[in-house]
Amino acid sequence: MTRVLVVGSVNMDLVVEAERYPRLGETLFGKRFASYPGGKGANQAVAAARLGAQVTLLGCVGRDMFGSQLKETLQGEGVDIGRLRETDVATGLATITLAEGDNAIVVVPGANHELLPQHLNQDEQAFRDADVVLAQMEVPLATVERAAELAQRHGKPFLLNPAPAHPLPPSLLERTALLTPNEHELAQALDERGGDWQALMRKLPGRVAMTRGKDGAYFCRADGSLHHQPGFVVSAVDTTGAGDTFNGALAAFWPQGLEAAMALACAAAALSVTRAGAQSGMPTLAALQQMLKEQA
Ligand code: RIB
Repeated sequence: MTRVLVVGSVNMDLVVEAERYPRLGETLFGKRFASYPGGKGANQAVAAARLGAQVTLLGCVGRDMFGSQLKETLQGEGVDIGRLRETDVATGLATITLAEGDNAIVVVPGANHELLPQHLNQDEQAFRDADVVLAQMEVPLATVERAAELAQRHGKPFLLNPAPAHPLPPSLLERTALLTPNEHELAQALDERGGDWQALMRKLPGRVAMTRGKDGAYFCRADGSLHHQPGFVVSAVDTTGAGDTFNGALAAFWPQGLEAAMALACAAAALSVTRAGAQSGMPTLAALQQMLKEQA
């Protein structure tokens, strides 16, 4: 059982479905509203836990209704929240509009931005206990940097999903065993304007796996050649959380080697889009194995 330590955000997702995106200044009627547990950190923690990993989440929620609901959900998924902090700042929130087969998200970080580097120092034991450390960019950059430092200090691979997109300091990139951006996030991470995505990947040989939606994912090997893991064909209901499922799965299957882990992670991500809500469609290990058997 892989021991995965996730350092990241916990949000409540308020999801509205509409025929199309509203124009600036326009009011539209939506078709449906629902709230779902979300946040890239929590989503990735749940994805890894459903796939059989032993997961600890370092994050922060508010002492409010959403905070209590989200803690309960995480506990129900078997994620260890013993080190999850609480604050008087409101729990993180994401408003998500689903339209035209895609999503548009506005995140209010709230309590997520109260997770500070010194809190990770206090939880250093969690880094000692982990096999893999996984982080994203919905908590402060300084906290992500400390997570990378602590992972390095304890000799643990540090996986960074650089979402939402953000330029990354070279020292953070150096400590990252694997960066998992989409095309836009990689350009931002490297602070590059434009440029061919394959050329950008070759700037981090052996250390970048890019997600490409339906096309699956690419890994840039140490020699600069690209490994392509094709995507799996499914009928998508809600793509929110597909990237998170990929990342959680990658961490859970890390000991199997990267190319094998990528195949499993792409399959898990495909299954995750078949239900509404970031976490609802994330597969269990049994569901993933069943899908792979059917597709073989
Ligand atoms: O990656 C999807 C997640 O991004 C959503 O669950 C939302 O909370 C935002 O953080």
